[in-house]
Amino acid sequence: MKKEIIVLFFAILFCNGNVYSIDRSHAFEINQKLGMGINLGGCFEADVIGSWGVEPKPEYFKDMKAKGFSNVRLPIKWSVHIMKESPYTIDKVFMDTIRWAVNTALANGLIPVINIHNFDELVYKNPNDYKGQYLSIWDQIAREFQSYSDSLIFELLNEPHDNMTPDIWNQFVADGLSKIRETNPDRIVMITSADWGGTTVLDKLILPDDPNIILTTHCYDPLQFTHQGASWAGLSGKTGIPWTGTESEVKVLKDFLSIFKQYSIQHNVPIYVGEFGVYEKADEASRIRWTNCLCSLIREYNFSGAYWEYCASFGIYNPARKCYHTGILKALLPNKNFDKYQDCSK
Ligand code: BGC
Repeated sequence: MKKEIIVLFFAILFCNGNVYSIDRSHAFEINQKLGMGINLGGCFEADVIGSWGVEPKPEYFKDMKAKGFSNVRLPIKWSVHIMKESPYTIDKVFMDTIRWAVNTALANGLIPVINIHNFDELVYKNPNDYKGQYLSIWDQIAREFQSYSDSLIFELLNEPHDNMTPDIWNQFVADGLSKIRETNPDRIVMITSADWGGTTVLDKLILPDDPNIILTTHCYDPLQFTHQGASWAGLSGKTGIPWTGTESEVKVLKDFLSIFKQYSIQHNVPIYVGEFGVYEKADEASRIRWTNCLCSLIREYNFSGAYWEYCASFGIYNPARKCYHTGILKALLPNKNFDKYQDCSK
């Protein structure tokens, strides 16, 4: 009888969400190493590399490292580089380019995070009609990089939303991860929730019973500020919105991230804020204040992150003028000194 009571006691403990049956210490360790990174946005997630104005240049990786970033997120639009029919073979030249980018990141001491980005059919059409492509893409990526060290991270899908409902997404998470695990049993895989990876349906996410996962989210709150003037967010012409750091403004960010902190504690899973940033049409001082506030919270909560993005319209670097947004850099990496760099606002 005594034995049964003890078993029951532990069963209750393990089920109530406060004692963990899964050891995610390795994932937490990697998340610590991820620290603060930056997205190479506008490059591989365009239909044609370079068509959005960002070419993959080796010096970009070198520069990211030199500035003090420790990870680089590479958003990649694989879906336009595959054969139309099964087995949906990825174009070799494209795969070689991505391998080059991953190698260049690693050679510069950056941890690369590669994802599936802008697979529009998965969110705007019937996701299940494209599941074969999704799984085939992961199968090929996973095989391609299976011999790589644990300093390469996979992220299942950028911002699932619209037709990728929480229920369908849970299936894509489980099946995508299983596919990767066939060849990469221990690699860290990042997973997000439906509805753009925010907080709204986080409770519907079925977190896989796997030790090597990190939960990722994006923070652009409030969108009217971070995306002011952005046509793709329906905010063209709506500029001139400041962010001054009032109590209520800070609360918005704190409330958002503290939901993830709670989730992290309850589910014993590390958090990576894989995108956050402010569009160039906002005033520079507000951009700096917002980034500073968010990064302080990311550090306080022991999350890792990656700023959106390096050298396009949210960027910290302007390649044409060879100047830096040093105030934003300082907010991202407060222990570094950027005084010697040409500031874009001067
Ligand atoms: C999109 C980018 C966009 C950014 C900020 C990313 O997930 O892929 O095109 O600029 O979010 O809105």
